[in-house]
Amino acid sequence: MEQIEELRARLDMCDGIILDALRMRNKITEDIAEYKRSHNMQIVQPEQEKKKKYFLQNRLQENEHQEEILNVFDAILLNSKKIQTKALFDYNFVLTGFMGAGKTTISNALKHIFAIDVIEMDQIIAEREGMSISEIFETYGEQYFRDAETDLLIELQSRKNIVLSCGGGTPLREVNVSEMKKIGKVILLTAKPETIFERIKDCHDRPVLENNKNIPFIAELMEQRRPKYEAAADIIIPTDGKNEYEICEEIITKVLG
Ligand code: S3P
Repeated sequence: MEQIEELRARLDMCDGIILDALRMRNKITEDIAEYKRSHNMQIVQPEQEKKKKYFLQNRLQENEHQEEILNVFDAILLNSKKIQTKALFDYNFVLTGFMGAGKTTISNALKHIFAIDVIEMDQIIAEREGMSISEIFETYGEQYFRDAETDLLIELQSRKNIVLSCGGGTPLREVNVSEMKKIGKVILLTAKPETIFERIKDCHDRPVLENNKNIPFIAELMEQRRPKYEAAADIIIPTDGKNEYEICEEIITKVLG
């Protein structure tokens, strides 16, 4: 056999070993997910991820291909998260709540923890219209924006493994609520008016609050909307005084029931 053919054959053998190792690894990942679920263990364990990176870096200290190998492991770890997510949840997460309740922040945290895609409704609508939400309100009026929200929810019905971050007003329409419930588990994030005020006071992309950035207005609008938010929710998570990981862990614990 030519030497090159022999080298290629050895490479095939290595790839076979990698494939077998990956199959074994994926199965272990599924078993760990199942173990965590059945033993009511904390699913979100950021420390574990850090430990794993440390272990790999240590093992590769002297290796001239350290960077390349770590890149491969980044992909392996990302895919492990996806496998864990699929093993744990066969539904989407739909995040809802008043402006400033933390929908965007928690969507991004869930994206990081579970390697799932985030769909931010406001962002998609703004991109499609080629203008900001405030400009859409000014140019076409609120009804136009609300219709765009309904259309988008209908369009998203077939998506799988996503976190859908709704606009703060999305559950105000009854039709939206039934579309949200068809998409996934509806998680309502809540916060006190004082907390909302602190979070939104320097933002200028919320037309509903733009000239009303004060606690009494926020409290009143929140109270007006409360029955609709609560009617839409499968799960309610108060967010005041909690960090992202605590909120995500609480979501998961409640979702897994
Ligand atoms: C709205 C909330 C906003 C955005 C629009 C209207 C509302 O979303 O959809 O400005 O009526 O509560 P966020 O809650 O993400 O700010």
